[in-house]
Amino acid sequence: MEILVGDYAGFCFGVDRAMEIAFEAGESKTDEVYTLGPLIHNPQAVGKLNKVGVGLAEDINDVEEGTIIIRSHGVAPEVIEKAEKKGLEVINATCPFVKKAQEKAKKLKEDGYQVLISGDKNHPEVAGILGFTNEQAIVIEDESDFSKVPNTDKIGVITQTTQSISHLQNLVNYLLPKVKDLKVHNTICTTTSQRQEEAAQLAEKVDLMIVLGGYNSANTNRLAEICCENGVNTHHVETAEELQTDWFTNIKKVGITAGASTPNWIIKEAVKRMEEINEEKNQVETTEGEEKT
Ligand code: F3S
Repeated sequence: MEILVGDYAGFCFGVDRAMEIAFEAGESKTDEVYTLGPLIHNPQAVGKLNKVGVGLAEDINDVEEGTIIIRSHGVAPEVIEKAEKKGLEVINATCPFVKKAQEKAKKLKEDGYQVLISGDKNHPEVAGILGFTNEQAIVIEDESDFSKVPNTDKIGVITQTTQSISHLQNLVNYLLPKVKDLKVHNTICTTTSQRQEEAAQLAEKVDLMIVLGGYNSANTNRLAEICCENGVNTHHVETAEELQTDWFTNIKKVGITAGASTPNWIIKEAVKRMEEINEEKNQVETTEGEEKT
């Protein structure tokens, strides 16, 4: 069995940077250190952070002193103001690409555009960007939200960085004939589109796709969707332990992709486990062959 691992599988630049910042804070600070929400959507990596003393706070109201780390998804400006007013030290690990989307949304709002965010309503990055428009932007998840677009001449669009290009394309196609002054900022992170394109290409070449990453990671779930759309049998797992031997029966080529928040050690463990499964398969085939002769 051939195992093909995508070049873009796993940690992106922004998550890698946020993890490094958090590990450094955990190791160097003597007071309490918390991330505001899980730093990344991967329970195993969050567990490792815990070991170096970085705790998890779901809300700024839960922290009375110490340091708070803003994760790569970013937050609304009021959250940082609130933390600073409470006397907390704020370490902002917002990904620079997310920062760009926040700034563009703010500028569009200031220039009088009705801002539309092409993204997931419940995603923290989108909640953060909304804060940069004084909560005035409208989130468009899919076509069912098109009816929310007001009848106005000035519309500005930005995208959640992990959004797929087809969602943005659909929205722009809808707006083009209606809006005179349409400004579109494609703020999709190239890492995401590269990873998605690579996953689709891999899915075409293999008999089975394994998608590694947190079940609560939107971009990992999207990767699994993309692989399924390509018609290949796909399993989404968080860790190597979840891989089941029978998935690999009659499989000649298996592809691996992983979400932006999946650490490298999880990918390595999955490859190792698949190699073991392959070895077990080969042994069974050899024994069966010997019994026949
Ligand atoms: Fe940043 Fe792109 Fe990752 S926006 S957090 S580098 S997916």
